[in-house]
Amino acid sequence: MNLLVIHGPNLHLLGKREPGIYGRITLKALNALIKNHAAARGVKTRCFQSNCEGAIIDLLTANAAWTDALIINPAAYTHYSYAIRDAIKALEMFAVEIHLSDISKREPFRKISVIKPVCVKQIKGFGADSYLKAIDFCLAAAGKNGKHSK
Ligand code: DQA
Repeated sequence: MNLLVIHGPNLHLLGKREPGIYGRITLKALNALIKNHAAARGVKTRCFQSNCEGAIIDLLTANAAWTDALIINPAAYTHYSYAIRDAIKALEMFAVEIHLSDISKREPFRKISVIKPVCVKQIKGFGADSYLKAIDFCLAAAGKNGKHSK
């Protein structure tokens, strides 16, 4: 299985950014964790971070043919990017939305995800483990119908 991982805006600041909410793990360490967890299960990964909506759409487009499953933390774009939502839908991606924090228990604007309706699942509130749970979910889903494995 080929797994595309996209981290949205401000996630390059992980480790320093509000550690009480997002934890102390850096983006580099998080990507290593993701890659190791995936590799141990025979999954190939491509990990990207961008602070720009258009760049995220370009990454989705450029990697769509390679990708069996997308794990995306759209960060603040979660709450208002119809453009990223439309890209996931248009590219017909098997997508899992993930969050480090539990967005349902924070400020009211974070409770809304415009990305969720185009994803097969939303996983939130487990810190870095949210990504690992998403990998396991993608593998289980691929196992069931074979649709997402190449
Ligand atoms: C986040 C939650 C978003 O509301 C926030 O804008 C982020 C990170 C999370 O992983 O918990 O940047 O997506």
